[in-house]
This record gives sequence, C-alpha cells and structure tokens, in this order.
Amino acid sequence: MGESGDNRFGIDDVRLVKAELMTGQTGVRVTGTSIPEMSDEQIAELKGLVSEYCVAVLPGQPVTPEQHIVFVSRLDPIMFTPGEVPHSQWPDINEVNLASTSTLPPTNGFHTDTSFVERPPSYTCLLPRKISSHGGDTVFANQYMAYEALSPVMQNMLKGLRFKHNAAQLKRLDEAPMEPVSHPAVRTHPITGRKALYITQPQRCSEVEGMKPKESANLLEFLYAHCQHVYAMYRHRWQPDDVVVWDNRCTLHTGVFDHGEEERVMHRVMCQGEVPYET
Ligand code: SIN
Repeated sequence: MGESGDNRFGIDDVRLVKAELMTGQTGVRVTGTSIPEMSDEQIAELKGLVSEYCVAVLPGQPVTPEQHIVFVSRLDPIMFTPGEVPHSQWPDINEVNLASTSTLPPTNGFHTDTSFVERPPSYTCLLPRKISSHGGDTVFANQYMAYEALSPVMQNMLKGLRFKHNAAQLKRLDEAPMEPVSHPAVRTHPITGRKALYITQPQRCSEVEGMKPKESANLLEFLYAHCQHVYAMYRHRWQPDDVVVWDNRCTLHTGVFDHGEEERVMHRVMCQGEVPYET
C-alpha cells in the first residue's frame, strides 16, 4: 500500500534504500546505497520511486564515467540522441556545457528528452563534472500532476489526440530524423499505470494531428503553460557527486543557465523506453 492510500508503490513501501520526499509529490532523495554496489532489487526499487515521483537525487555518489554508464544500462538499454555530439572518450555520454555559448537564453525551456524518435528515452541520468559557484540549477515539472489538474472535459478532449514531435535545434540536424514523429498527448506510464501529459517545448512540438493550425497552436500554447505549474515542481541545486535520475515519461525538465560565464559541465546518459501509448 502506498502513502497515497491506494495500491501504488510509494515512499512507505521502500525497503532496500532510504528515501524521503523533497516536495509534496515531485522528487525523492535516495540514500543508503552506493551506485556501483546496488543490487538488482535496489535498482527495481529506484525505478519504482523515479516512476512515481518523477525524479530521484542520489547525493554523495562519486561515480566514474564508466560506472555512470553501467548504472544507467541497468535501468533500461542505453540510447544516445541522434543529432547530438557524443563525448570523444565515452560515446554513451552527452556532455552538457552550455555556459560556453554566450548567446543562450537563460533556460533551454521545459522539455522531455528526445521525443522526436519512435521510442523516446525512459530515464535520463545527469551528474555534474564541474559546478558553477551560483546558479545553474535544474528544474523538474511533474506531468502526472499536470494531467490530473485538467478538468474531465479537457482530459476527454485529449483522449486519442496525438502531437507531432520534431528534432528542431539539434547540433547535427542531418543525423536526426527529418520526419516528425507523432505521440499520444497523454501517455500511460508502464510501471505506475498513471496518465501523464506528454508535451515538450513549442519548437519541438508544434502540431496537433488533424487540427487546423490555429486550433493546434492555441491548444499547445495553453497546455505548455499549464504543464509548468510551480506546485508540481522540484528545483535542484547541484552539489558535487550528486547523481540525478528522471523519468521522461512523466517529467519535464529545464536547465536554468543563469551562471554567467562560469563553467558548468554535466554528463548525461539516457536509456530507451517503449513506444508511448495511452490506455
Ligand atoms: C538537459 O536539458 O538535458 C540538461 C539540463 C541541465 O543541464 O540542467
């Protein structure tokens, strides 16, 4: 029995690691384990927690790049974003070093990772290799809560709707899929069985299948604003040796690149999820 009083897996069901909530429903802090030594059962428990609370922070985990990759491969099979540039030494790692570009906006906008492929990533795992002395947080938004906050009328309207996702803004667009991929507007999470809104930033999600352009634009504008409610967020202030894992099927995230010219270097590894579906 979960803390929510139904039969969901919740914080009270955790047995093999230590876990505490960081906000009402979004974000869980996981301790009492060392990443390279985690048992299969602890990995399963971690997946349950991330799926339910969207994001897990494991503090004090000084993992090497190799250990980072092995850890993520135990969640699901590793994937790399087509069109992104792999790390020269560890091709499964995407190095995020956005301070070096002075023309960036202060945030990259709430998004789910790599939604323009048939099987978008389930989990993403980010850790800092260089932290700025101030700023540079990452913010997460719970998309179960976004869906559940909609009226039944709007939930019914979204049933069966599909959004087109495209690969805008990638570094190597020639290597990314050119045709947009359509995914359900609302997806059912394969572990929790819960429904979450599945939308991403406007430049990558600009069309509702079958709608006229104005209908489509207005609906997406409303939903993209709606999905960023402050009560459904967890904001992470990075510490050295933090390992953060989120579930792209129920979570949007954004880096807040307000750290000026200071360097901030992150390593990101992702794994592949299923074809999104709605039940
Ligand atoms: C990302 O958007 O995947 C990276 C977020 C961050 O660097 O905080």
